[in-house]
Amino acid sequence: MSNTQVLLKSKPEGNPSTDHFEVIMADMPVAGEGEILCKTLYLSLDPYMRGQISGRHISGSIHPGDLMRGETVSEVVESNSDEFNPGDLVMHHGGWQAYSVSKPEDVERVDARLDPLSLALGIMGMPGLTAYAGVYYLAELKSTDVVLVSAASGAVGSMVGQYALNMGCRVIGIAGSDDKCSWLRDVAGFHGTINYKSEDLAAAIARECPDGIDFYFDNVGGDMLDTAMWQLAIGARVVLCGLMAQYNTDVMPPGPNPASIIKARATVRGLVVYDFFNKKQEFLDKTIPLLADDKIKYREDVSEGLEQAPEAFARLMRGKNFGKTIIKVS
Ligand SMILES: NC(=O)c1ccc[n+]([C@@H]2O[C@H](COP(=O)([O-])OP(=O)(O)OC[C@H]3O[C@@H](n4cnc5c(N)ncnc54)[C@H](OP(=O)(O)O)[C@@H]3O)[C@@H](O)[C@H]2O)c1
Repeated sequence: MSNTQVLLKSKPEGNPSTDHFEVIMADMPVAGEGEILCKTLYLSLDPYMRGQISGRHISGSIHPGDLMRGETVSEVVESNSDEFNPGDLVMHHGGWQAYSVSKPEDVERVDARLDPLSLALGIMGMPGLTAYAGVYYLAELKSTDVVLVSAASGAVGSMVGQYALNMGCRVIGIAGSDDKCSWLRDVAGFHGTINYKSEDLAAAIARECPDGIDFYFDNVGGDMLDTAMWQLAIGARVVLCGLMAQYNTDVMPPGPNPASIIKARATVRGLVVYDFFNKKQEFLDKTIPLLADDKIKYREDVSEGLEQAPEAFARLMRGKNFGKTIIKVS
């Protein structure tokens, strides 16, 4: 048996494409003493991987010839550990490959309440925890707040908006297509949306948030952040979470003018989800009942087969995904 793997072939200058990756057949990995052999069921594709390719991500770098890294939901197929048995479902950093070997301390069991299992990589996984941390630990939200979130239809943005909706806030989402905006309003229940590709962003924010933005959750940076910052209400809070506007370029766009922050007496905080991994159980226990009560909606953008991972990643980094990008591996 061999192991399908996806390697980085070369570093993209701008948007990644399938040419920057290589699918190979490698030898099957072998579980050593105390280790487990895992079969990948689902692979998560996330924007931070572009930062790893650029060498700018805090989790480390990926170089040409390296196996692409990534979080997976996997099934244990062989175990040399007392802690796991074949058939157990785990989450770990299995990477872009069909089989991987892990040490028990590097894996966690998938919460048995999650169905489909892919949720463990999306709204019930790292992206969901990111939203949870931003809303419940950094935002200092009040039910009277007007909340604006960018990249609103993704796993992070949609959860930020829905947590805020559940707290009684007025929630406005920014997204890049009419389909995404319709889903946000008609399915997820956002009060308003802005398609920043078809309308003037500043005018649309003024329309949707006439008294200003009390909380802005930013997934994009660049011009979008700057534009939103000029419409902050007095005492606004801003959480800086993502940099979609600059992951594909080495030229950093200008940031917001400090005057916009001073004028609103705003508080700006940076969010790194790693600081909140100890809140994972609390986040799941609070969020799974919301999903069960139909108070949380989600979308996944699922491709079948590891061979599709490069194309799916290229689409994600062009903003063409609609929902959490997942590869169903087997
Ligand atoms: N700080 C942390 O610890 C942490 C943890 C997890 C994720 N994040 C960040 O959270 C953000 C959202 O992640 P996600 O997994 O939920 O992804 P996602 O929202 O499903 O996908 C990214 C979305 O960004 C939007 N976008 C806006 N400007 C873009 C641009 N210039 N180029 C490409 N796309 C653009 C696109 O949607 P539109 O059509 O709406 O433009 C795209 O679908 C990312 O920035 C990610 O890096 C941060």
